[in-house]
Amino acid sequence: MRTPLCVGNWKMYGTLAEARPLATGVRDGLRRVKDVQVVLCPPFTALAAVGEIVAGSSLALGAQNCHPEPSGAYTGEVAPPMLAELGCRYVILGHSERRREMGESDELINRKVRSALTHGLTPILCVGETAEERRQGLTFTTVEGQLRAGLAEVAAEAMAGVVLAYEPVWAIGTGANATPAQAGEVHGYLRGLLSELSSKDVASSIRIVYGGSVKPENAEVLAAEGEIDGALVGGASLNAQAFVTIVKKTAHAGAVRGN
Ligand code: PGA
Repeated sequence: MRTPLCVGNWKMYGTLAEARPLATGVRDGLRRVKDVQVVLCPPFTALAAVGEIVAGSSLALGAQNCHPEPSGAYTGEVAPPMLAELGCRYVILGHSERRREMGESDELINRKVRSALTHGLTPILCVGETAEERRQGLTFTTVEGQLRAGLAEVAAEAMAGVVLAYEPVWAIGTGANATPAQAGEVHGYLRGLLSELSSKDVASSIRIVYGGSVKPENAEVLAAEGEIDGALVGGASLNAQAFVTIVKKTAHAGAVRGN
């Protein structure tokens, strides 16, 4: 079945002085852990250093964003081939902080998704409703719109190379996670849409991870829910011990689920 995936999204935290010991701590803490994939997404400036630390381990490197074009006159931007050159295999796209703070549209996110796939990066496409949208009963409408737009013009076979992250905006950085049932319901809905957009086989192979206040205390019950294939972790990924615990609990729940 689907191998669980845990992604550490360090956001704008991590000078080299902070990033090196954090990456080393995670790598060393996970030496003997099996049946789970782990991706560290430090800031751009720490990608090379973290890449050196995780080289030869089972940890993969990911970026938090990219530009849709492979090169060009885009001051301050970073292109997918530059990330691939540093050893990145994943890139987080459509995070709600970028949708909100940087005004990223579904159309721009879609261009980034297609470009990432072209350049050999696995997009981790984030979708999620705000508290107000949930209150108004618009959760499914919102995530459906983001999913359809984000994957527009992605060929059915290429969709197998995407990871989806359901991140309700109200759960990010608030300490209030979605319950396994709330997340499971949305994940199931998203998988149904994926099936419609690609095929049942492709849809059942795509990892849909949950993000929003995942911590050592709730990682296991979340990952035990059949539709939750792992975690996108913000705050708790900045503490090596906490993140290692989350990964171990996710792996354990995934193994139990698989049996
Ligand atoms: P959080 O962030 O774990 O701090 O809630 C998750 C995310 O934004 O990806």
